[in-house]
Amino acid sequence: IRVFESPKDAGIYVATLMEQVILHVERPVLGLATGSTVIPCYQAFRSLADCGLDLSRTVTINLDEYVGLSADHAQSYHYFMRENLFQHLPTKPEESHVPNGVAANLEEECKRYDALIQSHPIDLQLLGIGVNGHIGFNEPSHSLLSRTHVVSLSEETIQSNARFFDTVKNVPHQAVTMGVQAILQAKQIVLVAFGKNKAKAVAESVSGSVQTNVPASMLQLHRDVTWVLDKESASLLP
Ligand code: F6R
Repeated sequence: IRVFESPKDAGIYVATLMEQVILHVERPVLGLATGSTVIPCYQAFRSLADCGLDLSRTVTINLDEYVGLSADHAQSYHYFMRENLFQHLPTKPEESHVPNGVAANLEEECKRYDALIQSHPIDLQLLGIGVNGHIGFNEPSHSLLSRTHVVSLSEETIQSNARFFDTVKNVPHQAVTMGVQAILQAKQIVLVAFGKNKAKAVAESVSGSVQTNVPASMLQLHRDVTWVLDKESASLLP
């Protein structure tokens, strides 16, 4: 667990963790996330890329996408990745993947995505955490799915993500998300959380019991997880 003074400092640390993988793995695969938390990470990573970090052998695989939003929709995660990362990189990754939320057959799309993850084992998975403890869009539930699947977003997540949309009515109610198996199969996991509203989810996930009602608590089962926090998100840790 690393606690930083500011999201900016934390972002620099995360970017260097990503850089280490790119420098030391022959064909690095980065699992990427979206959302406000990862923005300082991507800003710092862009600075590293500007200073000569070569991404031409790197593959990126994103966690999730809203159902019904095409890649050119300003709130889609395709768009987020382009705006916040890809378009700023001097050398583009060899491949970049985000689930297709407008696939005609979403079940097939989930299968395609699982096959992609199996053939590109993830070296480092970057995660944010929902206020309810979700990772990817694996929402709290009495059970969790291991494979990529279509999920109905919880009311809490819809409300929380409404800040990115004109009105809460425009927030999609479904998403395609990697399952917990794909996340836990990553060799290394870096979970980033900032702000007081994440403190409860962080504390429950790090030091509570492992339970599907707090999806991020599953990370206790993984041997290489780094929690990158600021003081507020760390404030309820024992
Ligand atoms: C996004 C994702 C989500 C977010 C989480 C936190 O790809 O998988 O789990 O990481 O909802 O979002 P922010 O950072 O906006 O608070």
